[in-house]
Amino acid sequence: MHVLPKLVLIWELCVVDKGALAKGLQLENVTVPEIGLFGGSETLRCDFQLGSDTLYSLKWYKDEKEFYRIVTNARSNNRLTPVVFAQPGVQVVGEKSGLHQVVLTNLTIESSGIYRCEISAETSFRTITKAGNLTVIVPPERLKPTISNISNMYHMDDSIDGNCTSFRSRPAANLTFHIHDTKVDPSSLIEYGPVSESGGLLTSVLGLHLVVGHQHFLNGVIKLKCTATIGKLSWHQDLVIEHRNFYNSHVASAGHRGLSGSGRTVAHPQVLVLFGTLFLGVVSSLGLQGIMMFLSSLLSTLCSFSSRPRSSRRPLIIFTWGE
Ligand SMILES: *[C@@H]1O[C@H](CO)[C@@H](O)[C@H](O)[C@H]1NC(C)=O
Ligand SMILES: *[C@@H]1O[C@H](CO)[C@@H](O)[C@H](O)[C@H]1NC(C)=O
Ligand SMILES: *[C@@H]1O[C@H](CO)[C@@H](O)[C@H](O)[C@H]1NC(C)=O
Ligand SMILES: *[C@@H]1O[C@H](CO)[C@@H](O)[C@H](O)[C@H]1NC(C)=O
Ligand SMILES: *[C@@H]1O[C@H](CO)[C@@H](O)[C@H](O)[C@H]1NC(C)=O
Ligand SMILES: *[C@@H]1O[C@H](CO)[C@@H](O)[C@H](O)[C@H]1NC(C)=O
Repeated sequence: MHVLPKLVLIWELCVVDKGALAKGLQLENVTVPEIGLFGGSETLRCDFQLGSDTLYSLKWYKDEKEFYRIVTNARSNNRLTPVVFAQPGVQVVGEKSGLHQVVLTNLTIESSGIYRCEISAETSFRTITKAGNLTVIVPPERLKPTISNISNMYHMDDSIDGNCTSFRSRPAANLTFHIHDTKVDPSSLIEYGPVSESGGLLTSVLGLHLVVGHQHFLNGVIKLKCTATIGKLSWHQDLVIEHRNFYNSHVASAGHRGLSGSGRTVAHPQVLVLFGTLFLGVVSSLGLQGIMMFLSSLLSTLCSFSSRPRSSRRPLIIFTWGE
């Protein structure tokens, strides 16, 4: 550097008061995304206000090595010329980058690091800098973790002995099991360390071991969820486990078997009333009594169709046929 600019800088610092400086160049935000996805793109932002200053330079550093620079060229009428310096894992999309943002693409593990924006003013020679961390992750191979060796139906007192696996990510995903949105107690979990895979990737496995009890069921099912988490990102796999006995005694008789079920089965009382009445009407050879009864029960059936709440069940109306 010249001797002259340094002298000017000293002069400026002595003469210009701090209030006037504060109204000049101001670096508002440097925004670096916390997480980037492997192979993806991310935008780094550097928001500043020049105030009464003119920009001398804008520079971006990754881990203290400069990779992007814009310097004002006073001779060519303040035209700004971006320069990119090659660095492993740093691929700048030139056409999308400028004074206030730099777009990185083809992110790799090497792209992780501390990104710092530094701006300098021409008149005041003020230099301000701010940084942020970017961590590039490789999401799990299938995104959702896989629940294995867990059936979707158990008897009471059966033991569940299964695994949740999140394949090939970086870093290793954290796994958790939830039953009805309550975290499973560590005493029922088996922690297996992550397994190293090719390409520096890691597979996480979490074991679940528990004996099925009444406390696990809610409305006849166990809602099991395994979640894989990397930083703020997460993926989950759900499994609904049914109670085998509960299914046999309640679910099957509640509609699937319909009229062939036991005496407690009341599928559609109105239909039964209608058929019963028709039958009786025919038997009485359309005598006055039969026709009257047909009409009255038809009327009551129609009324009950329109007024009956869906969930309530009316008792079957029983007609007796005497002399
Ligand atoms: C700086 O960040 C704050 C908080 O995120 C936001 O409110 C403000 O608008 C940002 N400023 C600029 C110039 O982007
Ligand atoms: C990403 O890298 C691949 C090869 O390494 C290249 O073909 C592709 O053009 C790059 N993508 C961008 C947007 O630069
Ligand atoms: C970036 O991460 C490192 C450790 O990985 C930490 O020491 C540093 O404070 C972080 N910097 C920012 C700006 O978040
Ligand atoms: C898978 O589950 C069954 C039934 O719960 C259990 O008997 C078996 O041991 C489990 N398999 C392994 C490899 O643990
Ligand atoms: C769960 O994974 C561990 C580690 O890979 C394995 O040793 C174990 O047999 C698996 N258990 C079941 C039930 O699949
Ligand atoms: C997993 O959880 C631990 C403890 O909460 C945390 O320190 C770590 O950063 C988490 N790892 C990932 C990949 O999110």
